[in-house]
Amino acid sequence: MTEILKSDKDGIEKAANLLKNDELVAFPTETVYGLGAVATNDMAIKQVFKAKGRPSDNPLIVHVADIATVEKFAENIPESFYQLIEAFWPGSLTLILEATQLPKSVTAGLKTAAFRMPDSKITLELIKTLGMPIVGPSANTSGRPSPTEAEHVYHDLNGKIAAILDGGQTRVGIESTVVDLTGKEPLILRPGAVTLEDLQEILPTIAYDQHLVVESEIPKAPGMKYQHYAPKVPVYMVDLAEISNVPDIKSIAVLCDSKFASDFKYAPVFKLTENNDIKLATHHLYRALREMDQSKFTAIFVQTFATKEAISYMNRLNKASGGKRFDDYNAVN
Ligand code: TXA
Ligand code: MG
Repeated sequence: MTEILKSDKDGIEKAANLLKNDELVAFPTETVYGLGAVATNDMAIKQVFKAKGRPSDNPLIVHVADIATVEKFAENIPESFYQLIEAFWPGSLTLILEATQLPKSVTAGLKTAAFRMPDSKITLELIKTLGMPIVGPSANTSGRPSPTEAEHVYHDLNGKIAAILDGGQTRVGIESTVVDLTGKEPLILRPGAVTLEDLQEILPTIAYDQHLVVESEIPKAPGMKYQHYAPKVPVYMVDLAEISNVPDIKSIAVLCDSKFASDFKYAPVFKLTENNDIKLATHHLYRALREMDQSKFTAIFVQTFATKEAISYMNRLNKASGGKRFDDYNAVN
């Protein structure tokens, strides 16, 4: 059985002790819950891959509570790193640097490593109490929506990890933005909580790597090649203009703005947001996908958003749906 720990001083100390003793402990961050193990403990890291069912070629993020730790485990750190952390750390930005001294299991054999200082008192306290950096892949079974509550972690990993530090619902609700600083120009590998526009204010030349990774290619962010964030029930993207055409039957779940809720009498609606607030929709997306992932549903319809601010939301929704749209549903039903 996996123990649920309160995120008070005692709980954090207990979590740190478990980690010290080679155990795995899930912890809250401001983005999603992470699955923690000491970043230099090769044996524990291997258990992380096993517990998640994660392919071993997908490297992990090293979570730190100070810059000195990054400087210890990375080399040739560019000036852009310091510019970005000045603006965004602690926060939802993961930075790829040239790695030193980290176990191969953490970096999946790459010469680079990912670092993040989360904006969560609990995470920072945990790392400080432990005195060592921790890895933190999202604490879900590989391929499923990332956990935004302790209960989601419990659902996926009960019995496979020692404990979960319960910090309630995470504030942001999707993962950090991943930026590669090892190339000529800084490159966004995974869109996330920090937007392209935010980043461009600090580094005007930063770009978003939009090319689709093909099967035979070694991707820059290995995690991006797998199907991700997906419930078991098929998910379909539905544009604003199509919402009124979604069948109103009790075997279909609808995730949309609250203004459409009254259009449905039979189909259960999860109100993702109000007044098109994309931050709120993003905050709710994973929880809603998990809540509606029930065998009584044959399909989950999720509203799309078309604004610039919705890039990260749409990135996750695209993966959760495997690119399926309303028309694809109509074609088979
Ligand atoms: O918000 C987050 O980032 C959460 C919380 C817990 O911090 N963590 C998270 O970790 O989302 P994970 O493992 O689910 O996603 C890490 C992503 C993957 O797509 C992985 O391939 C990429 O970062 N990544 C890690 N190290 C890398 C490296 N050296 N080069 C390129 N991509 C890397
Ligand atoms: Mg993940």
